[in-house]
Amino acid sequence: MKPRTRVTHLPTVTVPPDNRPLVAPIHQSVKFSFDDVAETRRNSAGERDGFQYSRVSNPTLRQLELALCDLQGRDSCLLTGSGVAAIALALLGLLKAGDHVVYFAELYGPTRALVSRLLGRYGVSNTMLSVDDLDALERLLASTPTRLIVFETPTNPVLKVVDLERITALARAHGALTVLDNTLAGPHNHGRFDVDVYVHSLTKFVAGHGDVMGGAVIARQELADRMRHDAITLGPTLDPHAAFLILRGLKTYFLRWDAHCANAQRVAEFLAGREEVSRVRYPGLPQDPGHALAARQMHGAGAVVSFDLATGLEAGTRFAEALELFSIASSLGSTESLVVPPALQQPRGLTQEQAAWSGIGAGTVRLSVGIEDADDLIADLRQALERSNG
Ligand SMILES: Cc1ncc(COP(=O)(O)O)c(C=O)c1O
Repeated sequence: MKPRTRVTHLPTVTVPPDNRPLVAPIHQSVKFSFDDVAETRRNSAGERDGFQYSRVSNPTLRQLELALCDLQGRDSCLLTGSGVAAIALALLGLLKAGDHVVYFAELYGPTRALVSRLLGRYGVSNTMLSVDDLDALERLLASTPTRLIVFETPTNPVLKVVDLERITALARAHGALTVLDNTLAGPHNHGRFDVDVYVHSLTKFVAGHGDVMGGAVIARQELADRMRHDAITLGPTLDPHAAFLILRGLKTYFLRWDAHCANAQRVAEFLAGREEVSRVRYPGLPQDPGHALAARQMHGAGAVVSFDLATGLEAGTRFAEALELFSIASSLGSTESLVVPPALQQPRGLTQEQAAWSGIGAGTVRLSVGIEDADDLIADLRQALERSNG
């Protein structure tokens, strides 16, 4: 081989089968080849194992898919390049023109936009409700044929906890599919409920370190196969290197989750005792409206704590800027603590009534509590409350 050929056909290194690496290698390859056409065709027809093209499937992605299926307790998983792509794939894959969707004022903004704006353009009608009012959902389902209900629990940023037994039973009774954005609870939660499709932003707790984006759709085989077909056409796939980083994050998932929950509990208890704070929402607090449900439904109440500063929007800005360990940033569920001040999370595109349903007030602050030392975090919150109140 001449040098120009050598550098495009690199030497092959094979690892003997009895000499395995303890961390699976990253299969950073777009293409996988068989030696003959017949085997390539058998693989395309699903008659043998193997890989051909990484938009469709890749061994590193497969490892992550299997791990997430195990955690969430379903048999099929599709990976995407972001959480938003996972939500889009689930809804585009399961809906068609003429269908009706129920969604909620408490949903993540881009999910609301997907339902109202994008799916609206393709002839999918919708009704927005509040997750606080499942009686209204029951009445609506009785009067309006509905294909799908998309919801979150706990909701973001106000941490409302939705009764999973009730919402899934209502959906089942009326022939509607349920799609749960399970990002705030994590994939170890909610698998025992009769939810049809779970979507996750892996960017958050699963990857956990704030250095990689990803998403997942997890469902039973029959539903996942329908969405897989569209995934190949739409092309939202995850990159193998990103999958590798997420797999690495997954190894410490439970350690981080437990540390997030313990710290968030301490922070919520501290805030609940402060006179500058008019309301704290954290399902781990016994006085929280979602506490009893969360205790029944969830293992750990998570990292997100929200609270209202009695003095409102301006004080929220001063408070966030006075914090030293919490950075002003809109993500959640990674190792470091973050704060979203009220000025950055006022609901957009909602009517006055819907904005009231969202539970976001003029002084609502969201914290994503990291895994730092809880004493340091509380000292930081204390000094910021004192400085911003003056
Ligand atoms: C509940 C929820 N779902 C989905 C997403 C979107 O995830 P990503 O940023 O990975 O697209 C977010 C991001 O903040 C979120 O909070």
